[in-house]
Amino acid sequence: MPTVTGPSICVTGGEPLRGTVRVSGSKNASLPLMAAALLADGPSRLRGVPDVTDVAAMSSALRQQGARVTREGDDLVIAPGAGPIDDRDPSPTGTRGTICLLGPLLARGGTVTISRPGGCAIGPRPVDLHVAAMRAFGADVEPDGDQIVASATRLRGAEIDRLGPHGPSVTGTANALMAATGAHGETVIRHAAREPEIVTLAATLTQMGAEVTGAGTATIRVAGRRRFRGFDVEVPPDRIEAGTWMLAAVATGGRVRIERAPGDSMRAVTAVCLRAGADVSVDGAGTPTVSARPRPHAVSVTARPYPGLPTDLQPQLTAAMLRGEGTSALGDAVFPTRFGHLAALSDFGGQVLHADGEIRISGVDRIRAATVRAGDLRGAAAILIAALSADGPSRVDGVEQLDRGYEAFVAKAVGLGGDVGRVGPVAAAPAFAER
Ligand code: EPZ
Repeated sequence: MPTVTGPSICVTGGEPLRGTVRVSGSKNASLPLMAAALLADGPSRLRGVPDVTDVAAMSSALRQQGARVTREGDDLVIAPGAGPIDDRDPSPTGTRGTICLLGPLLARGGTVTISRPGGCAIGPRPVDLHVAAMRAFGADVEPDGDQIVASATRLRGAEIDRLGPHGPSVTGTANALMAATGAHGETVIRHAAREPEIVTLAATLTQMGAEVTGAGTATIRVAGRRRFRGFDVEVPPDRIEAGTWMLAAVATGGRVRIERAPGDSMRAVTAVCLRAGADVSVDGAGTPTVSARPRPHAVSVTARPYPGLPTDLQPQLTAAMLRGEGTSALGDAVFPTRFGHLAALSDFGGQVLHADGEIRISGVDRIRAATVRAGDLRGAAAILIAALSADGPSRVDGVEQLDRGYEAFVAKAVGLGGDVGRVGPVAAAPAFAER
């Protein structure tokens, strides 16, 4: 990966986070919905889209496919291009979510060229399941170096299996679902990912006129259609951001009320917080407050596909366990080599080792400040959690990674009493590293 330079965040840690934080719209729900807008005959509106650089990168990719993408406050309005699909310029190698363009673009028919998402700090990111699905729908797909070139006149419904070596693929399910809605005939998607983002996508496709049943279960059935109307949907709150603040409360021994936490999809992280000794109370409006003990209990858990603990919270939990009482053992069944954050976390003290696919953390009462570089999005959040719970001033470099998926992280941390400030440029342009 190229060397990255960019903004840094300075944190003077050691104080518990206290107060209320409001969760933004979900990045990983927004990206496939943005792709789905390409299926429509008219414009679509997404409400509450987070202002993060992965969304900006996806917007660029849509524009290169001829769409008009406009931000109106918290909303994105997307009008698909009326003309032929522009296959001269591949979409930028940006967010991993751009792989989701394959399904809707092929469903419209034509030739599609997109950049091939590569590997990154969280481990290999193969696309074989995406390619296999599009071929099963009848498309010609040629992975060609850094690009994927695919074409189809009319997709036909198919039997598709989404199970990979580490569980069902989330964007692989989203892509197949979007292709199937525009295909001729019936599709059955087996071993479908059950993540809430898939349920949101299916509900949106239904609003567009698609016929989808079973989203949220392992078997999704789709009856293909030819024409779709634009949608108007509210992006659900980001369950990973909500979980990040819950774990920040646990790490710092704080008390944090998390407005707009999507309660139903947060059972696994709530269970982890309880096992760490925190109290999680939910008020009449469903808003949780995490009241942590000064030092968390060590916990042992493995991240798994939904409804398991999300892999996108494994790094943040690792950070919280630096101060765990005892030894924690963490696994990641989804990305078994998601270890890129461990070296930086070790700099804060405590003992962090990985062997045989397991992360072992021997916690210490007080962790020390450090100057470290973030290598990926969730790793950046984890490092900031460590810095917030460490004694003294830390500096986190490479926080353009954080900007990919956390809206206003610094302002929200300050709102919780964190001594946090940003130095260097505020990211205004999309970051095009792999995700
Ligand atoms: C989505 O990535 C998320 N990204 C990831 O969040 C998240 O970590 C991941 O799902 C798992 O929950 C977006 O939604 C944009 P997968 P995705 O396909 O769909 C293997 C974040 O930090 N696999 O479900 O690309 C793969 O290697 C990001 O916000 C294949 O073998 O992940 C992994 O082991 C990081 N072949 C497993 O499946 C394939 O063709 C699950 O990956 C595709 C995936």
